[in-house]
Amino acid sequence: MNSTTSKPILILGGTGKTGRRLAERLTAHGLPVRIGSRSGTPRFDWELPATWGPAMQGVSAVYISYYPDIAVPGAAETVGAFARLAVANGVTRLVLLSGRGETEAQRAEEMLKASGADWTILRCAWFSQNFSEGFLVESLLEGEVALPVGNVGEPFVDADDIADAAFVALTEQGHVGHLYELTGPRLLSFADAVAEIAKAAGRDIRYIKVSHDEFTAAMAAHELPPEIAWLLNELFTEVLDGRNETLTDGVQRVLGRAPKDFSAYANETAATGIWSN
Ligand SMILES: NC(=O)c1ccc[n+]([C@@H]2O[C@H](COP(=O)([O-])OP(=O)(O)OC[C@H]3O[C@@H](n4cnc5c(N)ncnc54)[C@H](OP(=O)(O)O)[C@@H]3O)[C@@H](O)[C@H]2O)c1
Repeated sequence: MNSTTSKPILILGGTGKTGRRLAERLTAHGLPVRIGSRSGTPRFDWELPATWGPAMQGVSAVYISYYPDIAVPGAAETVGAFARLAVANGVTRLVLLSGRGETEAQRAEEMLKASGADWTILRCAWFSQNFSEGFLVESLLEGEVALPVGNVGEPFVDADDIADAAFVALTEQGHVGHLYELTGPRLLSFADAVAEIAKAAGRDIRYIKVSHDEFTAAMAAHELPPEIAWLLNELFTEVLDGRNETLTDGVQRVLGRAPKDFSAYANETAATGIWSN
């Protein structure tokens, strides 16, 4: 543990998929945390830069999870501005949650590096938890998942592994200046992932590949905000083209163990009942 741990660690997105898990880990080890989100105290809002300075006063480090997505145009400038402000305020230890194969995410990484921070980057594959804590839950409950992606393999990574990696990066020495690419241990298509969930949940759930226009129309019918619809289409068009069909050893390098397999995630999550109606 480093000597600055009596000060809280600011966790941006601290109520979200990875931030919540990181907060749980730090708290369980008796380490103070400050949640950086619109519901935090003080409030932190990416869209209101005046809230950034007060949220970072007196913290030892920041876990940066950008919202809505680090692939959104302009995310790099915003993350860069945040990192420069943190360094100017003497908060130099910054850990960024990033994405793979995304132009804007890789630009954000460069902005972070250029800020003068003591940086660590966790460049992550798609989270398994998108199926249980994200936009796919409703379709799984309805028994049909329709996405504009075919037989492309994605190495879904578990949010618990990401939180474990963030915890280690923030509490142990030797991770400054390192970029860890975090993936799960296996490539699965979205059809494979849905089939694993269906099996674990003991239900019939279909996967259908649809066109981008059909997907956009379906999202509008579900009243998803247009910017989220744009983002999802972008991710499915740009990023799921095969460029990320590789496994990495990032989890092994940071944690000294294998990443969690999707089937373990599916079985554990099915047992919570979230996919049962
Ligand atoms: N999901 C994936 O598969 C994946 C893969 C690789 C990288 N990433 C990256 O991970 C990051 C987080 O994505 P996620 O899907 O896991 O989301 P998430 O963390 O589950 O997002 C929700 C969090 O964001 C906060 N939030 C919402 N609006 C905010 C605002 N205007 N200002 C400040 N905080 C706000 C929420 O708290 P409040 O509601 O209290 O504000 C909550 O803590 C993104 O940058 C994404 O690009 C995601």
